[in-house]
Amino acid sequence: MSDVLLKLEGVSKQYDTESEGEIPRVLENVDLEVHPGETVGILGPSGSGKTTLLNIIGALDKPTSGQATLRGKDLSGLNEEQLSDLRNREIGFIFQMHHLLPQLSILENVLVPTLVHDGGEDRSKIEKRAKDLLEKVGLGHRLNYRPGQISGGERQRAAVVRALINQPALLLADEPTGALDQENADSLFDLLLQLNREEGITLICVTHALPLAEKLARVFELRNKRLAPSGEKQGV
Ligand SMILES: Nc1ncnc2c1ncn2[C@@H]1O[C@H](COP(=O)(O)OP(=O)(O)OP(=O)(O)O)[C@@H](O)[C@H]1O
Ligand SMILES: [Mg+2]
Repeated sequence: MSDVLLKLEGVSKQYDTESEGEIPRVLENVDLEVHPGETVGILGPSGSGKTTLLNIIGALDKPTSGQATLRGKDLSGLNEEQLSDLRNREIGFIFQMHHLLPQLSILENVLVPTLVHDGGEDRSKIEKRAKDLLEKVGLGHRLNYRPGQISGGERQRAAVVRALINQPALLLADEPTGALDQENADSLFDLLLQLNREEGITLICVTHALPLAEKLARVFELRNKRLAPSGEKQGV
């Protein structure tokens, strides 16, 4: 029990829409168990529900039915304040788009998630971690640049550092390499794997790129609203 980080049990999702008629389900009876330090890949065609699933795992959205638990804590039992605290401290997000704030420097962007803490922490320590991580991803010379002044690959690396700044147990990455060329995609992906090895961060990564997914320990595929181990041939 204690060594399960994330557990999904019978998770289904149906969005409320204004449209008439039957509302289709996006996810149906999804089960998943992830242990600390694991790397998990999620594949699936566009519109298959990958972002929906990641949002539920990251407590940004709730399942219509079923249960999502993090370290045995049922996420649907938490109020908004508890949820945002959990998102801030336990989970790092790398979104499909980087969402860096254009008017802030790279260093300031990376420090945004640390600003909601209720004080007490040593700011200089936090800033040192930010600088060390930016150094580690090759952005040590870009601290005072704005997002518009660096390349797409560099922006994604900055987004990785921002996701890691609060030392989350779980890193959720939604197509982190989608907007990058092959070389930048490979190096960003290697960075995520390195962080998994060196910091023990559990990684759940949505990707379209099969060669990248194959570097992850376990790979699942979302198809027909269900999650199944990838590569499992139907009817064999
Ligand atoms: N807020 C919403 N309200 C209603 N329907 C939604 C909402 N968000 C997503 N959907 C629908 O749910 C389905 C799954 O969307 P989702 O974004 O999870 O797919 P995805 O697998 O991440 O796709 P992509 O690879 O293109 O990012 C889509 O048909 C989408 O239109
Ligand atoms: Mg998506």
